[in-house]
Amino acid sequence: MKQMVLSALDMSCVGFLAQGVWSHPNDRSTQLNSLAYWTDYAKLLERGLFDMLFIADAIGVYDVYGGSKDAAVRGGVQMPMNDPWVAISGMAAVTSHLGFGITGNLIYEPPFLFARRMATLDHLTGGRVGWNIVTGILSSGARAMGRASIVPHDERYDMADEYLELMYRLWEGSWDEDAVRLDADAHIFADPAKVHVISHAGKYFRMEGMLPCMPSPQRTPLIMQAGASGRGKQFAAANAECVFVNGVSKAQVAASVSDIRRRAVEQGRGADNVKILAGTTIVVARTEAEAKEKEAEYRRFADPEAVLAHAAGGIGVDLSKYPLDEVLRYEATDANRTSMEMYTRNPARTYTPRQIAEEMAISARNLLIVGSAEQVADELASWMEETGVDGFNIARLIMPGSLEAFIDLVVPLLQERGLHKSAYRDGTLREKLFGAGPLLRSPHPAAAARTVA
Ligand SMILES: Cc1cc2nc3c(=O)[nH]c(=O)nc-3n(C[C@H](O)[C@H](O)[C@H](O)COP(=O)(O)O)c2cc1C
Repeated sequence: MKQMVLSALDMSCVGFLAQGVWSHPNDRSTQLNSLAYWTDYAKLLERGLFDMLFIADAIGVYDVYGGSKDAAVRGGVQMPMNDPWVAISGMAAVTSHLGFGITGNLIYEPPFLFARRMATLDHLTGGRVGWNIVTGILSSGARAMGRASIVPHDERYDMADEYLELMYRLWEGSWDEDAVRLDADAHIFADPAKVHVISHAGKYFRMEGMLPCMPSPQRTPLIMQAGASGRGKQFAAANAECVFVNGVSKAQVAASVSDIRRRAVEQGRGADNVKILAGTTIVVARTEAEAKEKEAEYRRFADPEAVLAHAAGGIGVDLSKYPLDEVLRYEATDANRTSMEMYTRNPARTYTPRQIAEEMAISARNLLIVGSAEQVADELASWMEETGVDGFNIARLIMPGSLEAFIDLVVPLLQERGLHKSAYRDGTLREKLFGAGPLLRSPHPAAAARTVA
């Protein structure tokens, strides 16, 4: 059986997916303002031979519940939310192999600045960065960024198509491979004939300029994405090297996986050029009974109002207006369409706010696995076999205890079974995941941007 890709899923915040659990006495997530918190985190993941730390991001506050920010602020629901990029260099300095998946919202950031920051980090990390492409779901974020409202769902992907095309041209086409000469005698740092100004005048973005950084190890960072709508999957199939899926049913995740792979094949990219990771939350202990006790304990610290504030922001519907036991109905909003469909168009069941508050309390929409190390390893193996996912994006619960338990108890078992590597491969994040060279290759559109130049 193939080895799994292991990513840790987090955000630069306190209440990430397990709302209220920050109040547990063993949770360290309130120390997020210290660089040591992040460097310890990175070292821990590298000890477990994780492929990457994936840092999600939300621009805006979850202010749909009750029509205000108050429930989110009170409960620490992804608020505070620090910048996900700034700690990366610190983490890179104390590790040698761990990759960093960074979320970047393309709606709010001028392409030139974004391309430069990413290229700089690719240099500083030695080619260990990936970009999780998002377009945001919070109207409060749109207002914070000076827009009247959020861009409609499908149009966000049109913007993403154009933005990405421009990014590929900047990263891949601005500097030829042999542009940098470093010829001290002739006083030629770089050959101007081999450095190109990129001109772009599209529907959403305009720019004329060259990438101001020398070509970085990967040029284009590892491209990651989590779109789950038809439009989202199409975008992923065309561009993404890593796709994140959510779901608690194997049948549903298997269907998503084969749909994404089919679309990737249609794009000429090959089914294996996309790694698909399932969002997972794990509670593991020495015995099943101990793990269940731990789960019950964590649930006692969960904060139902905060869970609902998180879910309400996700789907763009004020759940405070719903009686607790009323079944949720579909509403067309511009927030997370896939979550809305999961709650309201699931043929197997319906959801009420009370059920969401209880069932999503410690894992949100992630798959939740609770058990002994053997049971967790069995379950992960069966998810890979039955759904076709390549690995898992594991969200922390108690920080760092839940990840330490996974690394100490489950990782050795996975290694024994040949499901997890026993050493890192050399090279960039892309090379560690796919083997072949550091750059994207044809028929990926990034390679075409390099060839054209
Ligand atoms: C594991 C995972 C991580 C995600 N991280 C973010 C994030 O950091 N920021 C964000 O705005 N959206 C994030 N999303 C949401 C997706 O970008 C996307 O909006 C969502 O999956 C709905 O897909 P759709 O836009 O195709 O409907 C994430 C989704 C998943 C499954």
